[in-house]
Amino acid sequence: MNKPVTPPEINMERLGEIVSEYEQLKWSLIPLVQEIQAEFGFIPPLAVPVIAERLKLFPSEVQGVVSFYEQLYTEPRGKNIVRVCRGTACHVRGGKTILKLVKRQLGLEENETSEDLEYTLETVACLGVCALSPSMVINNQVYGHMNPKKVKDLFKREGGS
Ligand code: FES
Repeated sequence: MNKPVTPPEINMERLGEIVSEYEQLKWSLIPLVQEIQAEFGFIPPLAVPVIAERLKLFPSEVQGVVSFYEQLYTEPRGKNIVRVCRGTACHVRGGKTILKLVKRQLGLEENETSEDLEYTLETVACLGVCALSPSMVINNQVYGHMNPKKVKDLFKREGGS
């Protein structure tokens, strides 16, 4: 079970403004929840009844869509998304050790977010840059040929411990 992160306070006025923009549009649920996520970084649970009421849907319908798509997040995420590859090419070149070191450096397990909302740690099946294995990505920046020193230096630079 992942450590729960304290959700940030949600600006309900702003949430209402976003929902209003989509209220009259048909088939607007997905773009609406995408915009809410872009604004708040995730879809706060308290947004579900607001959306349902305004779009004249059942809350379970809204929740169903939000839960269905992997790209929609119902919990807060870090400003920096760290993805460590656990694919075969990376694995045979020490990817497991890299993941262990990143976990230690961030104090996070997979799919956890730091309490200060700086980092979320995820793993992926393949980053598509196997020639650079072992590899990882922070936001959209790829880091290849990782080794223990590079992990340490990287998070020192990124502001980690
Ligand atoms: S297996 Fe790691 S990038 Fe492909």
